[in-house]
Amino acid sequence: MEEIQSQPSSVEPELVALDPDGVRPPHVMESAALDLSFGAKKILSDVSIGFERGTITALIGPTGSGKSTFLRTLNRMNDKVASFRHGGDVLLDGESIWSPQRDLLSLRRRVGMLFQRPNPFPMSIRDNVVAGVRAHGIAKGKEQLNVVAEERLRQVGLWDAVKDRLNDSPYRLSGGQQQLLCLARALAVGPDVLLLDEPTSALDPLSTEAVESMLRTMTPALSLIIVTHNLGQAHRIADQTMFFYDGRLVEYGPTQQIFENPQQPDTERYVKGLMG
Ligand SMILES: Nc1ncnc2c1ncn2[C@@H]1O[C@H](COP(=O)(O)OP(=O)(O)OP(=O)(O)O)[C@@H](O)[C@H]1O
Ligand SMILES: [Mg+2]
Repeated sequence: MEEIQSQPSSVEPELVALDPDGVRPPHVMESAALDLSFGAKKILSDVSIGFERGTITALIGPTGSGKSTFLRTLNRMNDKVASFRHGGDVLLDGESIWSPQRDLLSLRRRVGMLFQRPNPFPMSIRDNVVAGVRAHGIAKGKEQLNVVAEERLRQVGLWDAVKDRLNDSPYRLSGGQQQLLCLARALAVGPDVLLLDEPTSALDPLSTEAVESMLRTMTPALSLIIVTHNLGQAHRIADQTMFFYDGRLVEYGPTQQIFENPQQPDTERYVKGLMG
């Protein structure tokens, strides 16, 4: 458990020192006075938060509290919803995700996403892994693509299970294996941030454990932001936890503090299972 995080706006010298090239801000992403709404309906107000580079942040809160809306905003997934409006800003490495200089494809390459239900594409297992790599022109030619596919399938622990069926449809894999395949696909394009919206809620306990331990191995190379209803999961894997309720970010801090010594009565009620 990381002990050095505190308030969202704080800049910790230790984190700056960990930064290899010394120029990137310690927060990989930041939301600044962010307001989110759909039409006249306000979903979240004034969310200011910094996501520590190379750590796992869990987003928790009751159903309808805006967790998915917030998460999907971070790689502009809500932009295609006609009624969606935002105020404030979201920064990636200090630059607005809505800046005219940023193109959406490259944003999505740097900020990947894994959904609640595995969504393999209707193509072979191998082609699934390299779909993004191909689209972005990161690797070309059968040999290079095969290397990427093997590397990423090994990384998520799926290689042995699928190495003899790389040309088969992914839909015959188990749900857990399909989710690992989608994880391999998301990792293949080399994102800096991975957004995960309840990635294990459709999985059995064993597959959940496999995905959780996989996620832990991904930091500090990657920064993970994960929505979960599974409070045990947040407690087990997250360095920081954010609690959303009643249209706002109620509390943010080191996971241990949020679960064991929350500062706000609503947070305490929620983490103790006493809320609705
Ligand atoms: N595309 C949309 N158009 C209009 N309203 C929406 C849209 N998406 C979400 N909402 C509304 O925004 C609010 C927050 O929804 P959101 O899905 O972000 O909550 P959540 O915290 O992820 O909930 P859950 O835990 O159930 O997944 C809800 O009232 C929901 O109805
Ligand atoms: Mg949700």
